[in-house]
Amino acid sequence: MGTKSWVMLGMMSLLLGIGVGDWNIMNVKWKKQGVSISLKNYCESWRMNVELNNIRYFEVVPGECVYYIGKYMTSTQYKVDSERALDECTLYLNSFFKLTGDGKDAWIFDIDDTLLSTVPYYKKHDFGGEKLNRTSLEGWMKKKVAPAIKQTLSLYNEIKGRGLKIFLISSRGEHLRGATVDNLIKVGYYGWTGLILRGSEDSDKEVQKYKAEQRKMLIEGGYRIWGIVGDQWSSLLGLPNAKRTFKLPNSLYYVS
Ligand SMILES: *[C@@H]1O[C@H](CO)[C@@H](O)[C@H](O)[C@H]1NC(C)=O
Repeated sequence: MGTKSWVMLGMMSLLLGIGVGDWNIMNVKWKKQGVSISLKNYCESWRMNVELNNIRYFEVVPGECVYYIGKYMTSTQYKVDSERALDECTLYLNSFFKLTGDGKDAWIFDIDDTLLSTVPYYKKHDFGGEKLNRTSLEGWMKKKVAPAIKQTLSLYNEIKGRGLKIFLISSRGEHLRGATVDNLIKVGYYGWTGLILRGSEDSDKEVQKYKAEQRKMLIEGGYRIWGIVGDQWSSLLGLPNAKRTFKLPNSLYYVS
């Protein structure tokens, strides 16, 4: 069903629903191939398929799902989903990780929506329903007000405590280095071994390719990459890879 039908549905329901106290567009039923589904079903399915990497290259969250995605990204469910992904890192490390003692055991984190949250920015920009304005987003990043994702901060400290070297590989540009370092430290992240940002030579490259090349350099430097935590598939796919990858939920935007 396209945007138009949902808008139509919304308008019809609005007309019919006036005066009904608990009316909610999310719960209005609609038939799709004989199955009765609500807008909530439709949007949850969109979100799930973004996470599964079936839906790719979207530039904006579909208009009819902006409300739903905003709700999810600010919900307890989002926190619980993220926490579960990070708990799996701990389980994996408990089961398989042995510190070699040569200082070459490494772990990679993304920055945005992995260590730091951009949700406060997207809250003001229609939860991904507006096309990205990079100037405006970077202006916000320069203010260094991104909060930590608390669940990731505790994993970060745990991984550091285990003696792994931490590398942050981000698609942020070099010009944001100062602001990025300040923001990270302000909310409690410190003691990383490398902060890798995109230089001008990488700025036109696909993010997946750029990140894979950075991993290749680390591996050539003798590092064993035990894991990656990221919110975008472009941080987790491509060769060479890590022994394990962990995806955090994020349906606000797609980085390719
Ligand atoms: C993008 O954001 C900048 C800074 O906020 C603003 O000056 C500019 O007009 C915006 N561009 C578009 C196309 O909206």
